[in-house]
Amino acid sequence: MKREDIAPPYTAVTQHEVFPQPKHDEVARFNFLANFNRFMATALGPGNKRAYDNRVLPKFITEHGREPQDRFEIRKAMNQDPWHQLWSALKRNSMEMRQQNGRALVLRQIDKLKAKTEELNRESDRLELDSSVRIPRYQAAVDIHCMPGSYHGEEVKNDISAAANYDCGIFATTAGGIGALSDGGGQALVKWIHQQRPGWMPKRILDIGVTVGHNIVPLALAFPDTEIVAIDVAAPVLRYGHARAQALGAKNIRFIQSNAEDLSRWADGYFDWVQTTMFLHETSGTALPKIINEGYRVLSDGGLMFHLEQPAYTDAMPLYEQFIRDWDAFNNNEPFWSSMHAIDLYAVMVGAGFDREKLFEAHVKAVVDRSVFPATADEGETEDHGRAAAWHAFGAWK
Ligand SMILES: C[S@@+](CC[C@H](N)C(=O)[O-])C[C@H]1O[C@@H](n2cnc3c(N)ncnc32)[C@H](O)[C@@H]1O
Repeated sequence: MKREDIAPPYTAVTQHEVFPQPKHDEVARFNFLANFNRFMATALGPGNKRAYDNRVLPKFITEHGREPQDRFEIRKAMNQDPWHQLWSALKRNSMEMRQQNGRALVLRQIDKLKAKTEELNRESDRLELDSSVRIPRYQAAVDIHCMPGSYHGEEVKNDISAAANYDCGIFATTAGGIGALSDGGGQALVKWIHQQRPGWMPKRILDIGVTVGHNIVPLALAFPDTEIVAIDVAAPVLRYGHARAQALGAKNIRFIQSNAEDLSRWADGYFDWVQTTMFLHETSGTALPKIINEGYRVLSDGGLMFHLEQPAYTDAMPLYEQFIRDWDAFNNNEPFWSSMHAIDLYAVMVGAGFDREKLFEAHVKAVVDRSVFPATADEGETEDHGRAAAWHAFGAWK
């Protein structure tokens, strides 16, 4: 086995003050799952393409007299293939096991976690909850990526369990690819902006769909004099996210319960940076343009809109790749995933008011701490053997 096939151990996770404390068996399960995910990606995953090339495609051509015309035809055909069925069932199961392990770990210490969170949130004017905010249907209709109760579900009063579960399991799901604090995307953003606009000091940043703040805390620490507003519809993630930010020393973020489809509490041009990270694919075809339009309105002239996402399915992307990337939509409770990746997001940005010439795209690779993927002396500081996560980023300057 090559070194890059092995996931980093769960002991590499940074356990901040509100992080759920895992016991030996829980750590062992996360270690198994991280390596299982890695094994499925590197050893079993390529078998899907072989099944397609050697069995499924020739059979399809014989039956239809042509190649598949879209990713949906490939999915229908692949769903009959025994290798793909096995791989798919294992992948779905690994997600369910990850949720069960994280959920059980959190619930057995819920009182302690709640008390710690409440202590860090007490008398703070930077946490604003609003029980009148309704959970949009696209969030409430399914348990997003198999998380029991999604981000907003509450088992006990002032619950934070959904958030603590999200925080403690993401390292296993990503096999360490986003770092010890799962903030590799945010750290990459800091690096990106320092390269793009050296010395720029944004006055106000809006982060939409903050969840527990994995990717906004690095920005808050990099720009300590910037006022950061982080919004989300789900109260549990905001309670936990605020406490986590305090624990990590980020004191300039206001966590506000609010729906991004309506940002009317903020005046036109109020922010000079509006962003989302791994968020848009969990909205809907109606909500997404509303959010971009509202984001444009509250952005100042010369300000930056930035989105970190998975790549769109362009005509240049092979249909097989579109099919395999679509897996989450049909098997991992990500209902908008497939249609979002087929939307021309640049057209949505132009529709909101941005000049086409001011649009940009970038490829962003997670900054992953050396403690997660230790490098030998001759490998240099950034060696991760291809294990760090990579995203497609796009945006515009107004
Ligand atoms: C995939 S998570 C985002 C991850 C997060 N930005 C990060 O980088 O770690 C999606 C989040 O968006 C929130 N959300 C979904 N729709 C929303 C909306 N219309 N307005 C505000 N938050 C929303 C969900 O509650 C959830 O916490």
